[in-house]
Amino acid sequence: MTIASKMSAAMQSSSWIRRMFEEGAELKARLGAENVYDFTLGNPDLEPPLAVKETLREILQDPQTGAHGYMPNAGLPATRRAISDYLAGVHSLPFQPDDIIMTCGAAGALNVILKALLDPWEEVIVLAPFFPEYLFYIENHGGVARVVETDDQFQPNLKSLEQAINDHTRAVIINSPNNPTGQVYDEACLRSLGELLAAQSTFYGRTIYLINDEPYRRLVFDGLTLPSIFQAYPDTLLATSFSKDLSLPGERIGYLAVSPQSRGRQELVAGMILANRILGFVNAPALMQRLVAKMPEISVDISPYARRRELFGRILSEAGYDFVKPKGAFYLFPQSPLADDVEFVQELKKENILAVPGRGFGRPGYFRLAFCVPESTIAASAPGFARACSRVTG
Ligand SMILES: Cc1ncc(COP(=O)(O)O)c(C=O)c1O
Repeated sequence: MTIASKMSAAMQSSSWIRRMFEEGAELKARLGAENVYDFTLGNPDLEPPLAVKETLREILQDPQTGAHGYMPNAGLPATRRAISDYLAGVHSLPFQPDDIIMTCGAAGALNVILKALLDPWEEVIVLAPFFPEYLFYIENHGGVARVVETDDQFQPNLKSLEQAINDHTRAVIINSPNNPTGQVYDEACLRSLGELLAAQSTFYGRTIYLINDEPYRRLVFDGLTLPSIFQAYPDTLLATSFSKDLSLPGERIGYLAVSPQSRGRQELVAGMILANRILGFVNAPALMQRLVAKMPEISVDISPYARRRELFGRILSEAGYDFVKPKGAFYLFPQSPLADDVEFVQELKKENILAVPGRGFGRPGYFRLAFCVPESTIAASAPGFARACSRVTG
């Protein structure tokens, strides 16, 4: 075998998103891209805000030398300062630059956190349905994922969570606004979760960290404001990025933050800085760090996503699908009219509609639709959704 057996197994189980994307590429080559309704990828189609391009131009014209060299592994001091000032305002806590590490996207942040935290066989709880890469990231660092189901509204079930915690539990990952469900966790939910983790940490005599993966924080609808996770639980590690709210996923820029109230945070930060280096990231991209230092609060205009959510919701309801209306991000996660979600996704494919089966996210019986595509694509897919549903429900 050319590659490690572990890697070969990972490739076999590898993401349904990729698999559907590849099937879609074949369909598009055959029928023409304009005749395929592809809702598989969470790749933002909105252009970055104009300010991004203007600021990049300004940065490139800056005569300062040495701007492209290596830097401290945690990132540029000015960028860490800008982010800590921003977080201090959002969370009403005294964040300092030392609480921030700039990373290669939220994915980089999650890997850095897990590398620093996990000893072999330690467990990380993930809430299903979940972003599938979590399983790979946990395994990357010798950990074991323990999956806990959310309820029918995709909210955490604290009883099940409590039952899943044991003396191997090192961390719990949450993601709000959520991929794939679009749901968010409110203040009461986060407070109860914080209380549970505090009590369990005391019981087991060591800290259980809450890893809050929130690259969609600014993509929320209906004027919703999200509660502060740091206020709910001090031993929180934030992993986030500018991939979604600035539409910059290809630029790989994000950060992680440790609460100023977290115990042992100096050692934790030092460990994560070393992890950023030895995972081979070395540091987050320099040019992008200089960009985001100037715009920690800017985000794309989310009104196109809000319009698409309404349109798609209407189309699915009229066609007879059940779903929980998303409050953020750009995903819908309807129930599959067939118990077998893979079979139903094949029915959709007969209508040239590409979706991802829920089992790819740890929740069979559902399917995910990413609405980072033009409204015209969503509108044109309506008859296909209706036909697929009525075909299988008789
Ligand atoms: C829930 C979630 N976490 C993390 C990531 C990774 O984001 P990034 O591109 O910033 O690494 C994604 C990307 O789709 C995501 O949906």
